Amino acid sequence: MSEKTHELIGVLATQYNMKDYDEAYATFDWAEVEKELSWSTTGKINVAYEAIDRHVDTGRGDHIALYYSDATRDEKYTFAELKALSNKFGNVLKKYGVKKGDRVFIFMPRSPELYAALLGAVKIGAIVGPLFEAFMEGAVRDRLEDAGAIAIVTTPKLQQRVPVSELPELQHVFLVGAEGELAPKEISFDAEMKDASEDLEIEWVDREDGLVLHYTSGSTGKPKGVLHVHNAMIQHYQTGKWILDLRPDDVFWCTADPGWVTGTAYGIWGPWLQGATSVIRGGRFTPEDWYDTLQRFNVTVWYSAPTAFRMLMGAGDDLVKKFDLSSVRHILSVGEPLNAEVVRWGMKVYGKRIHDNWWMTETGGQMISNYPSMPMKPGSMGKPFPGIYAAIVDNEGNELPPNTMGNLAIRAPWPSMMRKIWNNPAKYEEYFGLKPWYISGDSAYKDEDGYFWFQGRIDDVINTSGERVGPFEVESKLVEHPAVAEAGVIGKPDPLRGEVIKAFIALREGYEPTDELIAEIREFVKTGLAAHAAPREIEFRDKLPKTRSGKIMRRVLKAWELGLPTGDLSTMED
Ligand code: WTA
Repeated sequence: MSEKTHELIGVLATQYNMKDYDEAYATFDWAEVEKELSWSTTGKINVAYEAIDRHVDTGRGDHIALYYSDATRDEKYTFAELKALSNKFGNVLKKYGVKKGDRVFIFMPRSPELYAALLGAVKIGAIVGPLFEAFMEGAVRDRLEDAGAIAIVTTPKLQQRVPVSELPELQHVFLVGAEGELAPKEISFDAEMKDASEDLEIEWVDREDGLVLHYTSGSTGKPKGVLHVHNAMIQHYQTGKWILDLRPDDVFWCTADPGWVTGTAYGIWGPWLQGATSVIRGGRFTPEDWYDTLQRFNVTVWYSAPTAFRMLMGAGDDLVKKFDLSSVRHILSVGEPLNAEVVRWGMKVYGKRIHDNWWMTETGGQMISNYPSMPMKPGSMGKPFPGIYAAIVDNEGNELPPNTMGNLAIRAPWPSMMRKIWNNPAKYEEYFGLKPWYISGDSAYKDEDGYFWFQGRIDDVINTSGERVGPFEVESKLVEHPAVAEAGVIGKPDPLRGEVIKAFIALREGYEPTDELIAEIREFVKTGLAAHAAPREIEFRDKLPKTRSGKIMRRVLKAWELGLPTGDLSTMED
């Protein structure tokens, strides 16, 4: 590692919000940021007010907040319109007795209604739980049950995956696009919105009050509900300014769904706290649609993921030439390692640097990044955000010297840090066991110039197309299939998706390993858990490697798969 000499791409931008990284890092103080937001005077806050209503109150109500487009809709909303819509939904929730601290889930495809509902729920002080539309019944039930959700906003189609009768705490099901007779607990979102008042008494909350619950995967057990609080907005505001480099006249496109943390932190809060316009694309889209979106909305700042850039790279250089992308000023990436090769390709076809940054659901906001004003080493995640101290530590929490691989750790606390794992205080404590550090679960090293380089996950969590998938959740689903005796699941390196999910399966007596069975098992996970969790590859084995205590040894499966030495097998059963 230490031998490596890294290429450097110099600063391309001529104007940017953070003038000089070293100076910003040396002089930064979070307390100064708070003064730029209106709540510093009252002590009470609501991030939905700061993100939407504040712009109406300061004379920018007619500015476009949202461009929404999918195959059938093409709409725009000003800050004043979003204020009115979210106020209406806040009033609807109040009418049904939903109160501060209640968990309100949102399970629907991206649409203007999703954003109005989410903002409305936040305005009355509820904790929102956004769920990705691909989740199937089991995944939906686990999350609603764990959170004790009392309301959900969904569509008639997705409602089929919400087992209302098995969720005693769930009282209200708001249906967007409801038609015909409504069953008990069902409420027509559209009819209620029509009648609701546009004036809402916002619930002013404390900075430590709950805002959003994002469920994320670990290597063992069920998904964890990561709780963030309103205070996180300090970080969303400042990273929106210095990492996204947003100004109020920018048109920003974050391609992530609000079911994942990027889609709330930077699909909602980051851009709107800066008063910028946000572009939301719904549905599935082709490489042509990607470039068409950039061109049509004159996108200036574009935040996406390595898997998308690799997909676009695969679509070819000629396609780029068919579009006018001259509005694009700044490009960013998150979610998995951004290959140096992709950065070089971006320079070639877009004439722009793609700025990688690193963070996690648990950190709530960006932590390590490349900044427009800082020379870039392609392949590096960049340097810690001002106000954030990042380090590489050993398993006892000692900081390691440059160019030594170890645990990527952040000194706790910081404004957007998670405040709780819902119903699981022990799990929360695990992250903070080596005081004063938060241990990320990623390994990395820091070079002699202070740039951080991602090396891998320390646990078995799989990152496929930027989505975290816990191997245990997939294995648990697999063994529910009648043909499956045992299953071990690993991430297998893949040029497009980063990793794909591969399952090793031992069959029960009487089942034959056929292609039909493979298809059937994949479908079983797809419909039982989520499409993105279904193994792309399945390999049958007579037996799986296990420890004497019966744990499947995923590391051995991985070594087999990659043709690497299997390492210490002393704990393996015969
Ligand atoms: C990985 C997404 C390499 C990492 C915001 C982390 C990255 C996990 C990067 C969090 C990056 C995220 N380079 N790896 N720039 N960004 N990761 O919770 O393993 O969905 O721990 O949050 O994605 O994924 P999560």
